[in-house]
Amino acid sequence: MNSAQRKIAAKIVALREQLEYHNYCYHHLDNPQITDGEYDRLLQELEALEKSHPEFVTAASPTQKVGSAVAKTFSEVAHEVPMLSLANAFTHEQVNSFDQRVRERTALEDAPIEYVAEVKLDGLAVSLRFENGWLVRAATRGDGRQGENITQNMRQVLGDATRLQGDLIPEMMEVRGEVLMRKDRFAQLNRERREQQQQYAQAMAEYEQADETQRRQLKKPKKPEQPFVNPRNAAAGSVRQLDPQVTRSRPLNMYCHAVAEARGAKLPPTHWETMQWLAGMGLPVLQLSERVIGVNGCLEYYRRMRKRRAELPFDIDGVVYKVSRLDWQHALGHTSRAPRWALAHKFPAQEERTVVEKIELQVGRSGAITPVARLKPVFVGGATVANATLHNRDEIERLDVRVGDSVIVRRAGDVIPEVLSVLMAERPPRARKFKFPARCPVCDSHIVYARDGVIASCSGGLHCAAQRKENIKHFASRAAMNIDGLGDKLVEQMLAQKLINTVADLYALSVEQIESLERMAKKSATNLLASIHQRKRATLARFLYALGIPLVGEATAQTLAANLPQLAKVMEAGEEALQEIADIGPVVAKSIVTFFRQQHNREVIDKLLAAGVRCPQPTGRRDASNHNHIFADKTVALSGALTMPRSAAKRMLQAVGAQVTGNVSKKTDYVVAGENAGSKVEQAENLQITVLDEQQFLDMIQAQLQS
Ligand code: IVH
Repeated sequence: MNSAQRKIAAKIVALREQLEYHNYCYHHLDNPQITDGEYDRLLQELEALEKSHPEFVTAASPTQKVGSAVAKTFSEVAHEVPMLSLANAFTHEQVNSFDQRVRERTALEDAPIEYVAEVKLDGLAVSLRFENGWLVRAATRGDGRQGENITQNMRQVLGDATRLQGDLIPEMMEVRGEVLMRKDRFAQLNRERREQQQQYAQAMAEYEQADETQRRQLKKPKKPEQPFVNPRNAAAGSVRQLDPQVTRSRPLNMYCHAVAEARGAKLPPTHWETMQWLAGMGLPVLQLSERVIGVNGCLEYYRRMRKRRAELPFDIDGVVYKVSRLDWQHALGHTSRAPRWALAHKFPAQEERTVVEKIELQVGRSGAITPVARLKPVFVGGATVANATLHNRDEIERLDVRVGDSVIVRRAGDVIPEVLSVLMAERPPRARKFKFPARCPVCDSHIVYARDGVIASCSGGLHCAAQRKENIKHFASRAAMNIDGLGDKLVEQMLAQKLINTVADLYALSVEQIESLERMAKKSATNLLASIHQRKRATLARFLYALGIPLVGEATAQTLAANLPQLAKVMEAGEEALQEIADIGPVVAKSIVTFFRQQHNREVIDKLLAAGVRCPQPTGRRDASNHNHIFADKTVALSGALTMPRSAAKRMLQAVGAQVTGNVSKKTDYVVAGENAGSKVEQAENLQITVLDEQQFLDMIQAQLQS
C-alpha cells in the first residue's frame, strides 16, 4: 500500500466506525446522536470511497449491512427472508437512473414502468409471521438477518388484526411493515410527560423544604419519565419494551408495506393487488399509495407528498417507488443491502446546522422563564427558522450551548424548533458559558429558581407585562376559549395602549378601539370582536384550562370538570376534596386552591361571568332523559368535512336529544363546522349563532357522558 492508499483505507475505517456507532445509537438505544441527513452523508461518503476503491470493500462494511445487532434483552428471531433496507435517492437524477436501470433489466427500455408510489413512514420496521391465519411471531429488523422477538408486544398493537380474516388465508405468510406513533398522539404523550415533570419539580421543591414530619406525610415524589425526542423514538421505545402492558398503554399504529413470503396461497401478480389482498384479510396497509407511470409519475407523487408532509398524521421522511409487477421484482432481485426494484426518495432534512447568535430569555404565562436560542436563519423542515427553544437551565447545561456555537436544529411540521446538539469541534475559541441573570428581562423583578436552580421564574406576577400577555394568549388559544385572530402582536398592542389589563377586559372592547391598532381595519376588528363574543360559551373543562391555573393542563382540567361539574364547586373545593379525585395529587390540589383564593383571580372570574361568559357542565345522569344536556332540544347544523363520519356526529347528537339539520336558519342554535365549512359559517355569524369546531362539539357531547 502506498501512502495515498493508506490514507484512504484509514478514512474508510474511520467512517465505518462512526457509522457503526451511530447505528448502535439509533437501532439499539433508540437515541440517535446525529441527524438522519448527516448519517446519510457519512454513508454516501463511504459508498463513494468504496466504489472508487473496491479493494477495500468487506462484507462487514455498513454499506453492505442493515440495522444493528440484536439487543440482549429480547430473544432472537432469524429472518428466513432477510429484512432489507432501501436504496436512497436525494435528487431527480438519481430517480432517473434508478428507472433507467429497472428498464434495462426488464428489457423494456422504451416503455414506461408502472410503479407503486408510497409514503416512506418514519417508524420501526417489523416483520409479522402468520400461520393458518394466526399471528405466531413478530420481530424487529435487528441486523436484517436476526431480529428481536416482540410477538407479545405486537399483539397489543395489532388487536384484532392478529387473526386474519376471509377464506383465502395462506398456510404461512410473512408480512413486513412499520410501527409508528401518530404525531398528535406523540405530542399528547409528551405534553403529559412535561406536565408530570412540572408537577414533579414543584413537588420536589416542596419536599426539599419540608421538615421530617411533613416529609413523612408528603412521600418522596417519584421521578416521572422523560419526554421522547420524536415520534419514531417514541414508537421504537414503546415496542421494544419488556412489559407488553406498557406497549399496550401507548398509542401505536402499524402499517404493512410488503409481503416477504407466502406459502399455500398464490400471491396476486402485482404489489398493488398484494396490498389490497392484505387489506382484505384485515391487515392495516399503507395509506396514500398510488399507481404511477414512469419517472414523471414518481416525481409528481413526490412533489405532492412533500407539500402534504406537515399535515399528515404521521412523520414521513420521503416516498418509496416500487416496481409493481412481482415477476419483475423477482427478476430484478436485490443487493446485500436493498432490493433493486425499490427506491426511497428522501425529503429534505428536518434537521439542519446553523449558528447561535444570541441566547435570550422568554417569560411565560405563569412566570416560567424559557431560554431561547436566536439563530442565524436557516431553512429547515420547510420554513426559515430563526429561534429555537432551549427548554431550561438544565438543557443549556446538558447541551453546553454557547453564543457562537454551531448547532443542529430540528423543525418538524408545527413543532417548536429545538436545538438537538452542539458541534463542539467547531466552537469558537472565546465562547463563554451562558449565565442566567438574577432579574427578569421584562419587568426587572427577581428571578426565583426552583429544583436546584433548573426552573427559573419571574416573581413579578401580573405586574410583569410578559406574563399578562401570555395569560391572555393562553385564554384565547384553541384548546381554551378558541378565540380566532387574537395574535401575539395584537395582544401586545392592546396591553401597551392599556385597552386591556386582564382577560375579562376583552369583552369590553369596542370595534373602534380594535380598529385603532396597527394593521387592523374595520372588518378585521369586527371579526375579532365577533369571535370573542361567539366563544363566550365554553365547556367547564375548557374554561378551567383557559384560566391558566398553574399545573392545570388540558387533561387535569377535564378531570376536574368531570368530577366537580360546576365552576362554583371547583372554586370552593378544599385541598382534601380535590385530592380525592383520581389523578389530582397534593401539589396540584394546593395550586388550585391557592389560585382561587387570590383576590385578583376571583375578580377576573366575576368580571368574566358578568360579561356573559358561561361554562355549563350538565349534571345529567346517563339513565336520565336527555333534557338537561347542552344539546337537548337544540337545533344543530352540521357543515363542512368533519374527521368523523357525518352520520356518527348525527347519531351522537340525536342520542342527547338534539335535532340535526344541514341548513342554517334563525332557528339554528349551534353550527358544527368542519373543514371548508365556508358559507354556512358566515351565515351563522351573521345570525349570531354559536359556531363550534369539532373539538368543542366533542367536548360538549362528552361533558354529558362523563358526568
Ligand atoms: S419496503 C424489501 N416501503 O424504510 C423492502 N419500506 O429505509 C422492504 N419503510 O426497512 C421495505 N416506509 O422499514 C418499504 N413504504 C415503505 C416503507 C418502508 C418505510 C422503511 C422500512 C425499510 C426502511 C428502509
